[in-house]
Amino acid sequence: MQDFEGRVAVITGAASGIGRGLARHAAAEGMKLVLADVDDAALAATGAELEEAGARVVTAHTDVTDPAALEALAELAEREGGIHLLCNNAGVLVGGAGWETSAADWEWQLGVNLFGVIHGLRVFVPRLLAAGEPAHIVNTASIGGLTTGPFLTPYLVSKHAVVALSECTYLELQATGAPVGLSVLCPAEVRTGIMDSNRVRPAGLPRAQARAGAAEAFERGLGDAVEKGMEPGEVARQVFDAVRADRFWVLTHEGSRAGVEARMRGILEGSNPAFSIAVDRDAG
Ligand SMILES: NC(=O)c1ccc[n+]([C@@H]2O[C@H](COP(=O)([O-])OP(=O)(O)OC[C@H]3O[C@@H](n4cnc5c(N)ncnc54)[C@H](O)[C@@H]3O)[C@@H](O)[C@H]2O)c1
Repeated sequence: MQDFEGRVAVITGAASGIGRGLARHAAAEGMKLVLADVDDAALAATGAELEEAGARVVTAHTDVTDPAALEALAELAEREGGIHLLCNNAGVLVGGAGWETSAADWEWQLGVNLFGVIHGLRVFVPRLLAAGEPAHIVNTASIGGLTTGPFLTPYLVSKHAVVALSECTYLELQATGAPVGLSVLCPAEVRTGIMDSNRVRPAGLPRAQARAGAAEAFERGLGDAVEKGMEPGEVARQVFDAVRADRFWVLTHEGSRAGVEARMRGILEGSNPAFSIAVDRDAG
């Protein structure tokens, strides 16, 4: 996809962080924006900021775990003039070992991070194929979808699944011959609100218990790295470059490639798992 001016971008998780960075970049490219999130106040603020900057913006409270809400979002986008760029980006993170994580927190993270993308594809791809126009999908995974480490287990499981989902869907789209591209975004640390996902924890979902020891220390280290991470605007710039070039893999942090290589080498050499998730301290 080469032409963005006047086309419609649909972005989930658009009220903060990477989603807001994508929205700002899309607006600067002259795109119309359909912005979705569950955080109504932050969504309204993002919408107002971009409208003031001259963009055409509609916002919609949309929980990506709800297929009916995504259907409504797709209809809204079609009323705005079609769907040309779809960013399945919403995500949440709760740290901890897999066996310490409550069933509800497993379901929340898989619900938003994985089923949010699954439903986004199920709802939007048939509409993109029917429209027959050039379009592109960006699924936000993580470098943690290509690497492994302790104390982020449900999150990393969801991101590995988003990478596999994206690769399979790319091949399926190729098989249709439709002009619909797909990229998978795999950033390392980006300076966003992801470590404070509890602010959008669904009502009635009990808060995770405070963790002690190694899990707590790991989470603190990750929080520091996210705080010093890449700016969302730089992530968005790299995403739009990839969309223009029809490039599938978007690995935003040069320093994170070593972790992917080490894991792949370990698999092929038959060595047991080692901590391969990279903390890229040169990201800023
Ligand atoms: N920040 C990082 O270091 C990093 C690294 C790799 C991948 N990611 C991924 O980037 C994506 C964006 O996260 P971010 O880092 O910008 O964090 P963020 O918390 O700043 O933004 C995430 C947005 O998703 C929204 N959201 C949460 N649950 C939702 C739901 N059910 N429906 C709709 N919207 C929902 C939140 O309200 C928030 O606005 C996520 O998928 C995250 O996993 C982030």
